[in-house]
Amino acid sequence: MGDIRLRADFSRINDSKAVFDDIYALDDPRAYFSVLGNLDYMIPDVAEPVVRQILAAKAAATGLKPTVLDVGSSYGINAAVHRFPLTFGGLRHRYARREMRAISSETLVRLDRNFYASWPDVGLARFIGLDVSAPAISYATGVGLLEQGIVADLECESLSADSARVIRSADVIMSTGCIGYVTEKTFSRILDATEKLPWIISFVLRMFPFDSLAATFEKHGLVTERLTGATFIQRRFRDAEEFEGSLAALATLGIDATGLESEGLFHADLILSRPEADVHVAPLKDIVTVASGRGRPIGPRYVQFDGNEGLHVALEP
Ligand SMILES: C[S@@+](CC[C@H](N)C(=O)[O-])C[C@H]1O[C@@H](n2cnc3c(N)ncnc32)[C@H](O)[C@@H]1O
Repeated sequence: MGDIRLRADFSRINDSKAVFDDIYALDDPRAYFSVLGNLDYMIPDVAEPVVRQILAAKAAATGLKPTVLDVGSSYGINAAVHRFPLTFGGLRHRYARREMRAISSETLVRLDRNFYASWPDVGLARFIGLDVSAPAISYATGVGLLEQGIVADLECESLSADSARVIRSADVIMSTGCIGYVTEKTFSRILDATEKLPWIISFVLRMFPFDSLAATFEKHGLVTERLTGATFIQRRFRDAEEFEGSLAALATLGIDATGLESEGLFHADLILSRPEADVHVAPLKDIVTVASGRGRPIGPRYVQFDGNEGLHVALEP
């Protein structure tokens, strides 16, 4: 009964959201960056500093480099912006070049593989991914952003034995821009397959109720916290219809959109689900600091880096 109600709710709320299925299922991410970039899609960029802080806390707790399962990983963009000093905004410009638009997907995969390999990996985790789109997973593993990828729709199918083996080692599960397409059904199947109790980092649009997901996580022994006092912009509304439909969906839930969605932007909440013992060691508000203004274009600034002879200071353009 709970399942049916949540799915019905999500599909009704999704009616107000633009459909982008075609750009999720191409052989490379050029159209993804162009279409979502034109709507100022930014959630991977604004999520990354927070993901980094949570992964640092997780690594400190276990002493090990965690494995992250990115649910709805698409072309591996969360892995790209975490592992390398790159941003969604910067990558968008790479793919908008006319020279890049002229080449085949096969050539692009070869070039992108070299491109990503040419950056120092500053990631705190290794990444695996799950997506319903086979071409997106093939691209993300082909260019080396994901170590392994699973193609499945866990809303309507079970995990294969091979996929369950891949998921088994996940320490952290994360998602951006995916809850709404997936529900507690997908997460339940994932949690049945993980060896340890993972941490789950969810960036979820405020119009998608999290209750059924939190209840499912609780059944698996995870406590859910929501970061208060901060929201994360996902993108602009595409048109008046999407804007008005989303405001109506928020109003139905009794959520005040003033100063947030009312300004024409989708906002996501940060939700972290973990074993209770980990919450007692450090609650979410002690792990995460959100720095407003970070990521905005600014002039040259002083930075520190660890060189051969210790810590250096440099002016970064
Ligand atoms: C808006 S994109 C977000 C991609 C990426 N996380 C990001 O923020 O750039 C949504 C992704 O969810 C995937 N998706 C949709 N339904 C899914 C399902 N049932 N299971 C897994 N992935 C799904 C789509 O294929 C798409 O890659």
